[in-house]
Order: sequence, then C-alpha cells, then structure tokens
Amino acid sequence: KKTIYAAILGAGTVGTGVYKLCQEMKSEFVQKTGADLVVKKVLVRNASKKREGIEDAVLTDNWKEIIEDPEIDIVIEVMGGIEPAKTYIIEALEAGKQIVTANKDLLAEHGQEVMAAAEKAGADLEFEAAVAGAIPIIRPLKQSMAGNRISEVMGIVNGTTNYILTKMSEKGMDYAEALAQATELGYAEADPTADVEGYDAGRKMAIMASIAFNSRVTFPQVYTEGITKISADDIRYAKEFGYVIKLLGLARNTPEGIEVKVHPMLIDENHPLAGVKDAFNAVFVHADAMDDAMFMGRGAGQMPTASAVMGDVVDVMRNLVYNCCGRVGCSCYKQLPVKQIGE
Ligand code: NDP
Ligand code: HSE
Repeated sequence: KKTIYAAILGAGTVGTGVYKLCQEMKSEFVQKTGADLVVKKVLVRNASKKREGIEDAVLTDNWKEIIEDPEIDIVIEVMGGIEPAKTYIIEALEAGKQIVTANKDLLAEHGQEVMAAAEKAGADLEFEAAVAGAIPIIRPLKQSMAGNRISEVMGIVNGTTNYILTKMSEKGMDYAEALAQATELGYAEADPTADVEGYDAGRKMAIMASIAFNSRVTFPQVYTEGITKISADDIRYAKEFGYVIKLLGLARNTPEGIEVKVHPMLIDENHPLAGVKDAFNAVFVHADAMDDAMFMGRGAGQMPTASAVMGDVVDVMRNLVYNCCGRVGCSCYKQLPVKQIGE
C-alpha cells in the first residue's frame, strides 16, 4: 500500500473539516484509491494556537516546511485570499505537487495564471469546492455536459445571503442578526462584504461561465449588486404579492457576447428556486442537446465544503496511484460485497 502525504493550507472552517474527513475516512480512502492519505502539515498564521481536532505536531506557520518537503504530493489550499495563496500554489506546482483548492477569489481573478502554471507542471489543479460548496458543478460543466452547447447557467450560489434572506422572510429576523448567525455557522467569508455585496456570487459565476462557455470571464467583467439595500419592507411586500427575493447569478452566452451578472430578483413563490432555503444553493444549466438540468445542495459550511474538497483529493490520489480516470469498473474501485436482497 502506497502512502500519499498531503499538506493543508488553512485550519479555519474548511481546513478543520478537511482534516476531520482525512482522519474519519482514512480506511474508506484506502479502499477507494489503494493509498493511505497522511496529512503531514497544516499551515496556519498562528501555529501556537490550539486547533480542535488537529494534532499540534502537524501545525506550522512556515511554508518552507511544506514546499521543501519532497514527500508532500498534494497541497490542499483552504486559506483563502489572493496572496500568499497564489504564490504558494504556483510554487507548489513548480515543485511537482498537485493542488486542490476552494479559493474562488483567486480563480476568478487569476485563474488563467494558476491554470497555466498547472499545465506547465503537468499537475492536477482541482477546485470543485470553489463553487456552490458540496454541489458537484465544476466537473459536470467541464466533463459531463461538454457534449453540449451551454447557453445559460443561473442560480443561487451564495449560502450566506440565501440564509439571510430566508431568515428575514420566514422568521422576520433582522439583517444584522441573520448575518451574525451565518458567520457563526461558518457560511460567511472572512470578510462578509464579499457575500452581501454579491462579489462572492460574482466570482463563482465568472468561474462557471468560463468553463461553460469555454471562455475567460474574470470577476471585474461581472455586474454585481448585493442584498445590502433590501429592507424588511421589501421582503414583506414581495411576500404579499406571492414572491420571494433571492440573490441570483446569471451567465448567458448571447450572440452579442457573454453576459454575467448577480443581483437580487423577485421569484414567484411556486418557482423551484423559491424553495431553495438557508445555506442551500441551486444551479440551473440550459444546453442545446441536454435541455435543462438542476443541481441543488448545501452551498456553504464546514463539512459540505470539506466533502467537495475531499472528492477532488480522492481524484488526485487515484491519478497518483493508478494514473486512473476514476472510471467506475476500473481496477481502482475496490468493490464492497453486495448483499442479495431476500437472502
Ligand atoms: P477561515 O477564515 O475560517 O480560515 C482561514 C484559515 O487560513 C485560517 O486557519 C488561517 O490561519 C489560515 N490562513 C489565512 N491566511 C494565512 C496565511 N497568510 N498564512 C497561513 N495561514 C493562513 O476561512 P474558511 O475556512 O471559511 O475558507 C477557506 C477558503 O475556502 C476560502 O477560499 C473560502 O472562500 C473557501 N470556501 C469557504 C466555504 C465556507 O463555507 N466557509 C465554502 C466554499 C469555499 P489562522 O487560523 O492562524 O488565522
Ligand atoms: N461564503 C460563501 C457562501 C461560502 O456563503 O456561499 C461558500 O462558497
């Protein structure tokens, strides 16, 4: 059995969840990949601070201990922000390491640069968790729907604002209290301005539009309007007329060019998106051959996001172990016995 060593950059909401899954799912990961995953280092700003569930021995505040360790094959970047995340990712790629990241800020602004670095290094750079938390949407857009001409991607892609709008509408909660709860629950960004002003949703829409339309949409090209101007009265009046207010992202491939925007919208209370509540997200995709598809699930939070990160890690491990495509039926799948019903 091979051992694959990983480093996690960040031990906040997502990093702690990722570390937890690495421990709890250890034997399942061996079964799924044929390799044992060992987290050798966890990078934080303050290594002397105790982290619940993380052994002190793996904590470090020194990037050199990771980049200069040839045993570390996978770097899981969940620290967020542009710098030093971008430098660390590029250095790690140049050092022959594989990358899994949840960093939409970085991808929406410097995706081209980091992807070029990955291509040059011949390394994996996976980022399923960067858009819509636990919902698988990057891989479907990149692979499963690649046989289509996708014309539209739209939906609710920010958990914090959806949580705030849900609580304001259903519980009559005050905006500040709902935001405080979303932060407490680990949904909000380190600076929640990105959530409430629509920037976080805009970054996710830029990433999806780039993949869906085989283009390069960057965050500054996205029109964004957040929820800070929505009052309790707006929500009440909308409700009286049979509508709910949702922060929607919309990306369209039009004959005039690609158009990407995020803004609050009135949704008929019977529309499927009206039923997407709390920190859930939903993404609709329209494509010519496929017609419509909808993806829904938890768009933010510790374990849902960690689940998406670890899905990418398992994929990278399979590539490292078997150079495998992850195909069902491939020898990398150690199949569990099937119980015959009725026996
Ligand atoms: P947190 O703010 O909770 O955690 C960030 C972690 O990174 C902290 O442990 C911090 O260390 C560490 N860190 C930050 N900067 C540095 C640095 N310069 N050097 C070393 N360590 C550093 O963030 P989240 O876990 O919420 O988010 C992480 C990433 O995941 C972000 O890119 C976010 O956008 C993305 N994401 C988050 C989701 C969520 O639901 N929260 C969902 C999907 C994606 P220290 O603890 O010492 O301060
Ligand atoms: N702050 C983000 C949100 C986290 O609320 O959706 C998930 O990307």
